[in-house]
Amino acid sequence: SEHEVEPMVADFPKIIAHRGANDRFNESTISAYKIAAEDGVDALEIDLRMTADGSLVAMHDKTIDRTTNGTGEVSNFDLKEIKEIPTVDVFGNQSTVEEIPMLKEILDTFKDSEYYYIETRLVNDRLVMEVPLVELLNKYDLIAKDLVTIQSFSEESLEKIHELAPEVPLTLLFGKGKFSLKVAKSVDYPFIGMEASDVTLKNVNELHRQGKEVHVFFNDMKSEKAEQERVKLLHVDGYFTNDIRFTKQLLWEE
Ligand code: G3P
Ligand code: CA
Repeated sequence: SEHEVEPMVADFPKIIAHRGANDRFNESTISAYKIAAEDGVDALEIDLRMTADGSLVAMHDKTIDRTTNGTGEVSNFDLKEIKEIPTVDVFGNQSTVEEIPMLKEILDTFKDSEYYYIETRLVNDRLVMEVPLVELLNKYDLIAKDLVTIQSFSEESLEKIHELAPEVPLTLLFGKGKFSLKVAKSVDYPFIGMEASDVTLKNVNELHRQGKEVHVFFNDMKSEKAEQERVKLLHVDGYFTNDIRFTKQLLWEE
């Protein structure tokens, strides 16, 4: 009724392309991000790793084993070396040979035509990504244009980003099974990220009451569709989707 208090939620949930359109092309490659952009998503999700010589590249895992033809830790390769190792499609789809992109190359490709949802992490327990990342984002004028959110499982990293660029919206991520409502409520960030299985009505409502948005990621591909349907009913605000077409259909249907 008109007397009900309106919860503070986003106008329409955000569709965040997790590692690009990773269901249709090698994850975290320029082509995967292009497909996502063509689909019309709200944000491109990008995980960062740092090479031995300090370049930021788009890669989820610590090692290149799962997503390329090679093996070893990203941090043990120089950029030139890692560029020579082709990515692969983890689902075995046929795909053209494509290299690991530097973050800079992704920004060069899309410039200010896309919204970037970038994940930072500590590198061997050290805060080394934050300064070069903010410099790069400023070089492309993305912070001033409000085209970026930074997410991290590391509060320390988020604090560093906040120090360097106070205007950037931040997301504190909680790993599967590690969600703490107490911690989530105690931080001063606009967005909270959690795994689908941690999304409950209580968690969502309490965060909404504080004006925070809930952005959900899906660790288990087998249950992802069912979980997206479930969390839709709880009115979450963002989907780190691994199936853009499914999520669009889900959100747009009555
Ligand atoms: O960034 C949201 C989600 O991607 C966090 O999990 O492990 O897929 O980076 P992960
Ligand atoms: Ca991520």
